[in-house]
Amino acid sequence: MTSAVNDGRSRIIDAGPYEVRISSGLRSEFASIIATVAPAHSYAVITDDNVGPLHAGPLMAALATHGRASLHVMPAGEAHKTRDTWARLTDDLLAAGCGRDTTVVALGGGVVGDLAGFVAATFMRGIPFVQVPTSLLAMIDASVGGKTGVDTAAGKNLVGAFHAPAVVLADVELLATLPVEHRRAGLAEAIKHGVITDAGHFAELSETLPDLLAGQPAATLAAVARSVEIKSSVVKTDVREHGLRKTLNFGHTIGHAIEHASGYALLHGECVAIGMVLEARLAERLGIAEEGTADRIARVLKRAQLPVARPESLSAEQIVAATRLDKKARSGSAEYALPARIGEMANAESGWSIAVADAAVLEALA
Ligand SMILES: NC(=O)c1ccc[n+]([C@@H]2O[C@H](COP(=O)([O-])OP(=O)(O)OC[C@H]3O[C@@H](n4cnc5c(N)ncnc54)[C@H](O)[C@@H]3O)[C@@H](O)[C@H]2O)c1
Ligand SMILES: [Zn+2]
Repeated sequence: MTSAVNDGRSRIIDAGPYEVRISSGLRSEFASIIATVAPAHSYAVITDDNVGPLHAGPLMAALATHGRASLHVMPAGEAHKTRDTWARLTDDLLAAGCGRDTTVVALGGGVVGDLAGFVAATFMRGIPFVQVPTSLLAMIDASVGGKTGVDTAAGKNLVGAFHAPAVVLADVELLATLPVEHRRAGLAEAIKHGVITDAGHFAELSETLPDLLAGQPAATLAAVARSVEIKSSVVKTDVREHGLRKTLNFGHTIGHAIEHASGYALLHGECVAIGMVLEARLAERLGIAEEGTADRIARVLKRAQLPVARPESLSAEQIVAATRLDKKARSGSAEYALPARIGEMANAESGWSIAVADAAVLEALA
């Protein structure tokens, strides 16, 4: 069991080299925890122009009592998860006088987390950083695991680094301001965690979906905590993704392809939802997944008001062409992590993913 503290209102999960602290109202303690876990002469808070105006003020004021605090705001959205934004932010930190004795604080969703983490991984050859996720997707998934990076014109997350945070601080009350479509998108990754290792989590998510969509704090805290336990236990076993960590890519080979081919018109979580259904269908056609697996996943995703079918604007050919941009693609095939049934992934013997010929994927997408 990875949970160190569980009193129903707050959770501390041991994610290996760092802790994930989750609770309602944790924001009043953010600054003092950051100053204890990652003490520094200066604190550089990186956020985006949606989250900053809503949530940066109290954090900046509290951090200023522990050292110098500077705020660095990037434009919101996946389109800005780029090397250009990385360059601008690193220049900003230098202009603000940040040096090696700086802790970066990522205050935002997965885009801010990935980018601020990459800034921290590379600034002065690497400085500490703290994840303060503010979207459901970032709390459930992106803030845990130490992957940081940016997108390039050729595809998603193609330039980056492994850089573990000093601590992850999640206050579920910050989700009160999160637009509902982003709440739904976050649920896609939670449902994924159920599919890959825990049928109980899958069933519980399905039952509590109305509360989760409404942002009910107790249900949200329980769902976030269980997802973080699952993700961190997978990552602890395989930090660099040589084996088991590949199971977290379920839904993502096709999901990333749709995300890229649609020009990021769909949210990451929406693309993962579609990707999970299509990849589960592919797994059934290949005789790998139990019959009905794709339909069971689709039913829960639909109840979470997530899309489950290929967008009409994209042909099967366009999606398959975009899977070649995946980091693991070879000519004529791409790598897939596929389920055996709800709660269990297949292909352990071949390192949890297999190459599937484009022709077979095209048939499944048709
Ligand atoms: N590093 C990893 O392991 C990992 C894992 C999963 C996803 N990701 C990455 O995460 C990104 C997606 O994350 P995301 O869905 O959080 O996207 P995001 O960061 O774009 O956030 C979604 C939107 O919600 C806004 N927002 C965030 N918190 C808010 C709040 N509390 N109130 C109001 N608005 C708020 C943001 O400004 C943005 O407009 C993708 O780039 C994906 O590749 C990384
Ligand atoms: Zn994802």
